[in-house]
Amino acid sequence: MSTTATPLPPECDKVILTAEQISLKVGELGQRISEDLHGREAVLVTVLRGGLFFLADLCRKIDLPDVRIDFMAVSQYSPGSGGAVRVTKDLTDDIAGADVILVEDVVDTGLTVNYVHSLLTSRGPASLRICTLLDKPVRRIADVPIDYTGFELPDHFVVGYGLDLRGRYRGLPYIASLRDEMVM
Ligand code: PRP
Repeated sequence: MSTTATPLPPECDKVILTAEQISLKVGELGQRISEDLHGREAVLVTVLRGGLFFLADLCRKIDLPDVRIDFMAVSQYSPGSGGAVRVTKDLTDDIAGADVILVEDVVDTGLTVNYVHSLLTSRGPASLRICTLLDKPVRRIADVPIDYTGFELPDHFVVGYGLDLRGRYRGLPYIASLRDEMVM
């Protein structure tokens, strides 16, 4: 699908990553993962819901004997909780002994991926890597070891390709920035 086929939402001012740029980057990341895990099998895990789109494309760009997928969902506690999160949907399969890649659409404060990384580590995978399409390092609170990063972005609200504005616009094929006046 070309970028021009999907109109820009009224809350957005411009496309910052086109579908073509995203597709190329997903291919590069898939190739790097395939080389690093050469000959082994992988389990891709993402945190619903934003990472779903990236995971779906990435798993088809990884060339390994087998690539399984699994999902978690987490819910953030209230602001007073210090950023703690809790699991609302756990993995379906056991990951002990598996080569796991935690796939995220965006790492922002790092609190989500930091929590999920610790949880997955406690389950004894053979290896655990983090792959994020977007990284906003200026927002980081929790230091997380990211192995694969697609694009580094400044601190600006973006939507599309899994990222939402109050539940909307996840299905956009590109990533667009929100107009300044729309940012709360
Ligand atoms: C987004 C994204 C990450 C998290 C990153 O999820 O998918 O999981 O935020 O933010 P952090 O680094 O500050 O923890 P969100 O909570 O918006 O839910 P969603 O995936 O359903 O959109």
